[in-house]
Amino acid sequence: MSGIVGYIGKHSAQSILIDCLRRLDYRGYDSAGIAISNFHEIQLRKEKGRVEDLEASLQLEPIINGNLGIGHTRWASHGTPTISNSHPLCDEEERFFVVHNGIIENYQQLKKFLLEEGYHFHTDTDTEVIPHLLAHYDTGHFEETVREVIPLLKGTFALAILSKNDPNQMIALSQNNPLIIGFGQDEAYLSSDIPALLPYTKDIYPIKNGELAVLTQTAVEVKTLSGDKVTPKRVHIQWNHEELELQQYEHYMLKEIMEQPEAIKRTLKGRLTEDGVAIPELEGFLHSRNLQSFEKIMIVGSGTSYHSGIIGKKILDSLIEIPVEVAIASEFSCEHSTLTDKHLVIVVSQSGETADTLSALKEAKKYGTPTIAITNHWKSTLSRQADCTIYTYEGQELAVAATKAYTSQITGLVLLAIVLAKQMNGRGVEQIPVLLDALHSLSEDVEKCLIMTQDAIDQFAQITNDQEKIFIVGRGSDYVLALEGALKLQEVAYIHADAYAAGEMKHGTMALITPGIPVIALATQHHLREKTVNNIKEMKARDAYVVGITTIGDDSISSVVDEVMYIPEAHPLLMPILAAIPLQLLAYYAGCVRGYNVDRPRNLAKSLTVE
Ligand code: F6R
Repeated sequence: MSGIVGYIGKHSAQSILIDCLRRLDYRGYDSAGIAISNFHEIQLRKEKGRVEDLEASLQLEPIINGNLGIGHTRWASHGTPTISNSHPLCDEEERFFVVHNGIIENYQQLKKFLLEEGYHFHTDTDTEVIPHLLAHYDTGHFEETVREVIPLLKGTFALAILSKNDPNQMIALSQNNPLIIGFGQDEAYLSSDIPALLPYTKDIYPIKNGELAVLTQTAVEVKTLSGDKVTPKRVHIQWNHEELELQQYEHYMLKEIMEQPEAIKRTLKGRLTEDGVAIPELEGFLHSRNLQSFEKIMIVGSGTSYHSGIIGKKILDSLIEIPVEVAIASEFSCEHSTLTDKHLVIVVSQSGETADTLSALKEAKKYGTPTIAITNHWKSTLSRQADCTIYTYEGQELAVAATKAYTSQITGLVLLAIVLAKQMNGRGVEQIPVLLDALHSLSEDVEKCLIMTQDAIDQFAQITNDQEKIFIVGRGSDYVLALEGALKLQEVAYIHADAYAAGEMKHGTMALITPGIPVIALATQHHLREKTVNNIKEMKARDAYVVGITTIGDDSISSVVDEVMYIPEAHPLLMPILAAIPLQLLAYYAGCVRGYNVDRPRNLAKSLTVE
C-alpha cells in the first residue's frame, strides 16, 4: 500500500507534506513525491527511495513555494520503484496531478482506449490512466471533470488530485481505501491514516465511499458523486501524538515489542468481568442469531494475522464442539469449503485494510455468512463491512513487522472464544474460570517474559550474525509459533528461517541438518514435551546447534540442547502469546546486528491494499 497526504492553508505546503509523509512512510517507502500549487502554477518533484531522499532533492533544487499540495509515499505494486512510476502522476500537458492508493482493476481496458485516442504512457502503473482520462474528459471545470471520470474507474482507490484549471483547490475521493480529512484553523489536511495528522489536528472526517471532497483555503465541501451536499460529521481523536514518537527506543519494532503488556491490558480492559467476559460490541450480533444453529467457524487473515487465526482455531477447538477451519485470506477468495448462513467467519486484520483479507470478507458476505472482524483500526474498511467488530485497542503499530498486533489479536480471540463457548455451552466451559484467572495475570506474565528473555536473546542474536539459515520447530501451538517466528526472521533479518512441525523433520527435512546449523526448538506445551525432546535428540545426533525455549521449572530440555531459554509458565492456551516474545526479540536483534532497517524491511509495507 502507499500513503497519501494533502494540505491547503496558510503555511508552506512543502514542509507540512514532507513531515506528514515521513509519518506515513510505514505504508510504503519505495519512492516519494509531491506536487505544490502556489494558486497559479503547479510544480512536481519525485524521488526514488524514502521521504528523506525527496527532501534532499528539494533542498538541492527547490520547487515553487505554495500553500496547497499533495504528496505520496509509494509501495511499488504496478511497475518498479523508479522516479517515473512514482506519484504524483500527470497527463502529458501537466494539467492534472494525481496521487493514488489502491488498484484500478480495469486499467488495461482504459489504457487501450486512451492509446487508441492518441495518448502516450510514460509509466508502468495502473494509476497513469487517471490523469489521462481527466485530460481527455476535461470540461474546463475541475470538479465536473472528476465527476465524469470517477464512474469509469473500477477497483479500490483513494485519490487526491490537483488541476491547473483550478490551482486553488484539491479534490479527494475514497472508494474502499481510507482517506481522512483533517480540519485546522483556516486549513485542511488529507491523509491515508491518522498518525500523520496528529501533530496538526485531532478533528477528522474519514471520507466515505461514493463521496467527493473539495478542499479550498476557505472551505471543505463534501458531496456525493451525484453532487448532493453532505455535512461531514467531524470526529475528535483522543490519541496522543507523543505515544507515536520513538521515546527512549531506537526502533518502533522494539518499542512495540516492549509495549505488549500495555497493549494486552488495553485489549482486555472492561471486558473481563467477575464471572466471564463482556464484549458489548458483540451483543447485538449474538442476540440476533441462534448460535446453537452454527455449524462451522472459519477464521481468515494474512501473514501474522493468519498465524494468530491458527492459534484462535486451537483455542476454539478446546472450548466448543463445532469444527473450526483457518484459511489464508488470499486463498480463501479463490477456494473455500461450503459457506452458508449457518457458518461464522471471523476475519482478523491489524490494519483492517488488507486487500486479500477484505476480499475474503466480501466472499463470505456473498453467501450471507455472518462475519465478525477483529481489528485494531477504528472505522477501518473491515470494521465498516463486517457484521460486528471486536477492536483490539493495542495502539498504533508503526513498525512494518507485526508484534503487538499478534499478541493482542490472540487475546481478542480468547475473549471471543470464551463468549462463544458460554453461549453455545461448549465442551470446554468448565475450563473457563481457570482461563479467566490466567487472563487476569497475562499482561504481567508478558512483562516478566520480556525481562527474562531480552538480554539472552540479544546475545544469541549476535552469534547468529554469520548464519544464513535457521530452523524453528515445535509441536501443536508451538508449531504455529514457529511459523510466526520464522516469518519475523525472514522479514526483519532476511534470514532464510523455516518452520517445521518437530515430528515432520524426520520425514525429509532432516536431510538439511548439517553440523552447527541453528535450530530453535519450542517446547512450551507440557503434554507435547516428551515427543519434542525426542525430535531434538534426532537433530542433536546430526550435530545441529539447538536452542530450546521452554517454561521455568522444566528440566527435560536443558540436558539435550546447547542452550536453553526459559519463559514464564501460563495457561497452555495463552503460551503462544508468551512464547512469541523471544522470537520477536530474536528477529529484532538479528536484524539490528546485520545493520538492517528493522522498521522498514526491504520490499515490504505495512498492510497491503492490493491483492
Ligand atoms: C508480518 C506482517 C504481515 C501482516 C499482514 C496482514 O510481520 O506484519 O504479515 O500481518 O500483512 O496485515 P493485517 O493484519 O493488517 O491485515
